[in-house]
Amino acid sequence: MDQERKGHRWFAAIYDRMTASAERSYMKAIREEIVGGARGRVLEVGAGTGASFPYYNDHADEIIATEPDRYMLDRARRRAEEAGRPIELRQSPAEDLAFDDASFDTVVSTLVLCTVEDPAQALWEIRRVLKPSGELRIYEHVRYDHAFGAFWQDVITPAWRWFGAGCHPNRDTASIIREAGFEFQQLELMKPVPPIPPMVFSRPHIKGVARPS
Ligand SMILES: C[S@@+](CC[C@H](N)C(=O)[O-])C[C@H]1O[C@@H](n2cnc3c(N)ncnc32)[C@H](O)[C@@H]1O
Repeated sequence: MDQERKGHRWFAAIYDRMTASAERSYMKAIREEIVGGARGRVLEVGAGTGASFPYYNDHADEIIATEPDRYMLDRARRRAEEAGRPIELRQSPAEDLAFDDASFDTVVSTLVLCTVEDPAQALWEIRRVLKPSGELRIYEHVRYDHAFGAFWQDVITPAWRWFGAGCHPNRDTASIIREAGFEFQQLELMKPVPPIPPMVFSRPHIKGVARPS
């Protein structure tokens, strides 16, 4: 956790430029659906620079966004000010959420579970703070479902983690979500990026809505 607290200054500095083309093309519709579907009291984990903030609508009554990396958090603060509605920010990893049990209607996670240090612990925490009727709304890049792709993801992961501020391209995130006690109401496998390096290593994505089972 120490590295996240210390932060990744350079990664935070280039993040919005690095993701600008994806945001303009496929991420817009995905955020409209995943973030725009958030209702009630909402917790966003790993908010990064706040790319999701413009997509919350009036169905979200209260928004609390957490992010452990102080450089990301600085940028998220600026985005929150531009959002035109209150978004409370807290510096915190998803593995240790300082909120009461069953206190949120929705938890949003976009491109975060690849990076958290302990995804199983993060998902147990998310499940703890979600109401039994609550929703976990996710968009994540995940492990290939065939051995060839997964093998190359395992090979590239040590280097990818270094360049990608802790990102693991080889996580079977849907399984980790289920093992933490969630049931998917919707789950879609997507391949929105072309099969060329480097994107080919993080090509399968999942978009889903899960409920505590
Ligand atoms: C690829 S960025 C995604 C940011 C944002 N959610 C988005 O959709 O653009 C991954 C984010 O996860 C954050 N992160 C890293 N470790 C984390 C942890 N343990 N808990 C929560 N977030 C974490 C990083 O600091 C980074 O901001």
